[in-house]
Amino acid sequence: MGTSIQNIRGFSDVLPDEGPIWRFVEDTFRHELERYGYAEIRLPIVEKTELFSRSIGEVTDIVEKEMYTFTDRNGDSLTLRPEGTAGCVRAALQRGLLHNARPRLWYAGPMFRHERPQKGRYRQFHQVGAEAFGVSGPELDAELILLSGRILRALGIDGLRLELNNLGTIEARRRYRAALIEHLQAHEGWLDDDARRRLHTNPLRILDTKNPQMAEVIRTAPDLGDYLDETSRQHFHDLRAMLDAAGQPYTANSRLVRGLDYYGGTVFEWISDSLGAQGTVLAGGRYDILVEMMGGRPTPAIGFAAGLERLVALVEAAGSAPAAPSVHAALVAVDEDLQADTVALAESLRDRLPWLRLQLPIGGGSMKSQLRRADRSGAALALIRGAEESAAGEIIIKDLRGDAEQYAVAIERLPEILSPLEST
Ligand code: HAM
Repeated sequence: MGTSIQNIRGFSDVLPDEGPIWRFVEDTFRHELERYGYAEIRLPIVEKTELFSRSIGEVTDIVEKEMYTFTDRNGDSLTLRPEGTAGCVRAALQRGLLHNARPRLWYAGPMFRHERPQKGRYRQFHQVGAEAFGVSGPELDAELILLSGRILRALGIDGLRLELNNLGTIEARRRYRAALIEHLQAHEGWLDDDARRRLHTNPLRILDTKNPQMAEVIRTAPDLGDYLDETSRQHFHDLRAMLDAAGQPYTANSRLVRGLDYYGGTVFEWISDSLGAQGTVLAGGRYDILVEMMGGRPTPAIGFAAGLERLVALVEAAGSAPAAPSVHAALVAVDEDLQADTVALAESLRDRLPWLRLQLPIGGGSMKSQLRRADRSGAALALIRGAEESAAGEIIIKDLRGDAEQYAVAIERLPEILSPLEST
């Protein structure tokens, strides 16, 4: 016997009562991104596996253990996208969007990572991402970071902090990596299994550990800031001056390394303390080497992506999303014989008043139960059709939210009666 569908649990649903918050978050992103000249690009959810392993990095957590990878009927290895940057760069490169222009692109949609689910961490989650190409100066970093701050403010979320770092050039990171490995090896007895495993593959990620046993080893580790090359140091300095001038507070955190290999130079994260361990709501940085790595001309680039589930949780807690609009009116037919006629009347009202949100408590039942359904729909008015009134070309208007007496009017006057509801 098969398992009941009811017992099959997989990925999360977004239920109707959460819809308005999701829409508010998505609309806010779209609105602000468009104000800064970003154009939407819609990208496939499935890509060749190689795209991700080569760009995100073979020894990152994502590629090593989190990708949903399968072989299709042609024998090609495909992967459900774990993030959007790789696909966005691929599309921009293949479609010639990078030349003769300085494109600014944004995208939204589901991403997939086979992580251990917990609060704020899901196997299918949603991101809005933004990517800007062709400018290497810190003014682009500053504008992108200020844009992300503006979006988060527009969402009405308080208490987020901005952390900022510069990862330097590949050469600077190589020197730092060697010094870090040396330090970690000298304290090998304190390292946990995960750190031992990463020691020679991805030692910078060890700095991200949450294991208290390693706190002291991490605290005394060499500082990436001391290894920065002169150009990166100047870039970081100029970026900080620009954020200061714009009044944007931040914390410089030389331990902020990010989990994807394509980063170099500026990296940043917006973090909330009220989401537990998964507090990063928006994160990004420069990836000046990626376009060239993927076969294009050297093209500097920077971007970010935000995790929508985490932002929705914060917006819900802040109560900053506007409530979903309820229907303006419900049209109730008391008499079964009037049903066909009532459906036609509803259609003609919808034709004449394009703003009108009108619900038919379809399914009949007594007048009382229909009115109960009309009330639950949130409608301001019930429009009641009785046999007598219909014969006289009239309809009854009942105020569902106040205690005004109900009254009958000529059906032709309905648009006039309903018009004050347009602004609600
Ligand atoms: P990321 O840090 O891997 O960066 O993800 C960005 C954001 O997506 C995270 O800060 C978090 O809010 C959300 N997120 C990631 N994984 C999950 C999950 N399993 N469940 C819920 N939310 C999650 C990137 O993806 C880069 N592509 C960002 C970027 C764009 N850098 C440059 N351009």
